[in-house]
Amino acid sequence: MAGEQIRLLVVEDVPQVASHMRALLQAQSQIKILDVITSGDRAVGAVSEYKPDVVIVDALLQGRTSGQQVAQGIREAEPAVGVVMVTVPQNPVSEDPSRGVDAILKMPFSGFDLTTIVRKTYEERAVEASRAGSMMVTFFSPKGGVGRTTLAYNLAVALGSAGHRVCLVDGSLQFSDLRGLLRVPAVAPSMVNLPTDRIRESDVADVAWKDPSGIDILLAPPRVEMAEMVTVRDVEKALSILRQLYEFVIVDTRAALSEDVLVFLDASDLILQVLTYDSMAIRGLVMAGEAFDAIGYPPTKLATVLNRADSAGGFNRADVEAAIGRAIDYEVVSDGHLVQAANNEGVPFVSGSPDAPISRGVREMAESLSAHLRQRAPALARR
Ligand SMILES: Nc1ncnc2c1ncn2[C@@H]1O[C@H](COP(=O)(O)OP(=O)(O)OP(=O)(O)O)[C@@H](O)[C@H]1O
Ligand SMILES: [Mg+2]
Repeated sequence: MAGEQIRLLVVEDVPQVASHMRALLQAQSQIKILDVITSGDRAVGAVSEYKPDVVIVDALLQGRTSGQQVAQGIREAEPAVGVVMVTVPQNPVSEDPSRGVDAILKMPFSGFDLTTIVRKTYEERAVEASRAGSMMVTFFSPKGGVGRTTLAYNLAVALGSAGHRVCLVDGSLQFSDLRGLLRVPAVAPSMVNLPTDRIRESDVADVAWKDPSGIDILLAPPRVEMAEMVTVRDVEKALSILRQLYEFVIVDTRAALSEDVLVFLDASDLILQVLTYDSMAIRGLVMAGEAFDAIGYPPTKLATVLNRADSAGGFNRADVEAAIGRAIDYEVVSDGHLVQAANNEGVPFVSGSPDAPISRGVREMAESLSAHLRQRAPALARR
C-alpha cells in the first residue's frame, strides 16, 4: 500500500478552502487532487466517474444537497471509497462510517493534518474492502473432543465444493490436529516456513498445502516445540494476507482461551462455538461467553454449532439454549461409523458420503456462510 499515489476528490464550494488544500498538497506526490466539485448535487456522480480512493466533503455545503447527504450517497454508491468530512469547530460532526463519515478534519488544518488523515482513511478503507470479499470463521470450544477439527475440515471442503476459494488454517499450533487428520508428510511446509518480517502473498501461496480435496491448508508446525516459533504478529500478518487470497479462511483451534487462540478469534468475522450435549461443554461455553462479553465481541460475531445433535443424553435443545443464553444456530448429527472411517482415511465425509445426514448438516452450515458472504460483500467485492 505504501508508495501508491492516493487519488483524492474534493467536494468544496468555498473556493478559498479548495485552493488552500491545493496549496498544502502541492509540494508532495503522495496525494493527487483529481478535481474540485463545487456542488453537492454533482458529488456522487463525480465519485462514480473519477473513482477516487478518498473524497473530502465539506460538512457545510450550501445548496440542495448537504455534506451529510453527499457522504451517505457516496457510501451507498461506492462503498470502497473513503470519506473525510471537513468542518469547523463550531459545527461538530461525528465519525460514522455507516453513514459515510470515516474521518473528520477540523479547520484550520495543516498540510500534515491533511495528508495524514487522507492516508489513514485510504488505508483503513482498503483493509475494509479486502475484508468484505472474504470471511474468516474460527471453530472454538473450551472443551476438547467436541468435533472442531472434524467439522472445520468438512466445512472447508463443503465450501470448496460449492466453488469458493478456501484456506483451512491449522490453529492447533502445538499438536497440529489437521496434520494428524490428513496425515500429511512431516516435511510439508507450515507456518514456521513463512518469513518472519515481511510475509507476502507469494510466500503464503508457496507454504499452503494443496489438499486432494481441492482446498488449501496452512499447516501448524510439525513438532510441538516449534509452536513457540510462531508469534502472534506472524499469525496476524498471515491471516490478513489469506483474506486477500481466499474467500473463506476457516480455522481449527485447540481447546483453550489463550493468546495463541485469541489471535485467531480476534481476527475472525465469526466464531463457531462447538458444543455437544455434555454438561462440561455447556459450562465451558457459558464461561467463554462471559469472557467474550468482557473482551467486547459483539453477539453477531458468535454462533453455536451443536455437534452430535441426536445424542441428547438426557438434555434437550431448549435446556442447552437456556443454559448458554443464546440460540443454537447449526446442528450436525452423530455418525460414529462414517466419521471414524472418513477420519481414519483422512478424507472428508461431505464428499465421500454427501447424502448422509451428517454431511447435510455440514452443507447447510456451508450454504448459510456462503449466503452471509454474499450479503457482506455487495458492492465492495466488485472492486
Ligand atoms: N458428528 C460426529 N459424529 C460422530 N463422531 C464424531 C462427530 N464429530 C466428531 N466425532 C468424533 O469425535 C472425536 C473428536 O473429534 P475432533 O477431533 O474433530 O474434535 P476436536 O474438538 O477437534 O478435539 P480436540 O480437542 O482433540 O482438538 C473424533 O474421534 C471424531 O471422529
Ligand atoms: Mg481438534
